[in-house]
Amino acid sequence: MPTELPASALYSHPSLGRLWKKVHLSCSPFLHRTELQRLYHLPSTRIRKHFGHRSYSLLALGCADGTKESLLLKKLPKPTSLLALDANLSLARRAARRLPAFQKSAHRTDLTSSLSLQFIPSRLRTHPTLITLFGVLPNLNPLPLLRSISRFMKKDDLLLFSANLAPGTKGRLGAIRVLPQYDNPPTREWLETAVGQLRPRLPKGRLEFGIFSDPKQNSLARIEARWISQRKTFTVFSSRRPTSSQVETWIRTTQLRKLACYLDPLGEEGVWLVTRKA
Ligand SMILES: C[S@@+](CC[C@H](N)C(=O)[O-])C[C@H]1O[C@@H](n2cnc3c(N)ncnc32)[C@H](O)[C@@H]1O
Repeated sequence: MPTELPASALYSHPSLGRLWKKVHLSCSPFLHRTELQRLYHLPSTRIRKHFGHRSYSLLALGCADGTKESLLLKKLPKPTSLLALDANLSLARRAARRLPAFQKSAHRTDLTSSLSLQFIPSRLRTHPTLITLFGVLPNLNPLPLLRSISRFMKKDDLLLFSANLAPGTKGRLGAIRVLPQYDNPPTREWLETAVGQLRPRLPKGRLEFGIFSDPKQNSLARIEARWISQRKTFTVFSSRRPTSSQVETWIRTTQLRKLACYLDPLGEEGVWLVTRKA
């Protein structure tokens, strides 16, 4: 099994955040397909119905610069407070600047730590909370993260999360279709820069993309960029591409309950609105 680098190592330095944004602007289908942008404002109707006239807080996890949250908030009343959390503090600050809220703050966090949600200020929890988690589940181990969010949620809170899907019902075949979205020059530039910044240095090598099974869930397809050297192989980047039915299994096994689901017509992305099981 290759040694795996933490996903945050690809984003946490400001220069890597800028390179990731460049990849996003040139390669992400989200910016070029309106059907994908619609996934981020469609849930607003159901969210408005859930909160009624009550005030609510927004907790934006792994929000980067808040592009997707801003689409959603265009269709929602202004939240009372906003907390933007990301491994990259400059991106989280940018999200806090762009998103509307009466009180705002931004912090660096590591969502792989079970403590990351325990330091959320109590003032944020005086209202029901809308938690967003967009584009993070592909990079982090989904079950521990969904479980810790589920434990953190109060009865009236909502979680809206996205998953990058393997189109169709056969994970691996679907992942092959989307591989060119990753194996391209801007993504290589970002990942090779991240490799160059690692200390201790990785041995001389080359980057190769491929599709593998997730080590924690054999039937789950993972697109990986591996650094191949003569001595050792390292997984530098991974993106999980579940089928929509695998996402629904994650929801059930982490004590969450589905309220609604919005799927891209091409089956490449989905957004789920969930609440805590009673
Ligand atoms: C693929 S980007 C998605 C960004 C944005 N939410 C979107 O959907 O466009 C993944 C985001 O997760 C953040 N991230 C990665 N690992 C993290 C970690 N361990 N803790 C907190 N944030 C993390 C990155 O900094 C980055 O902003």
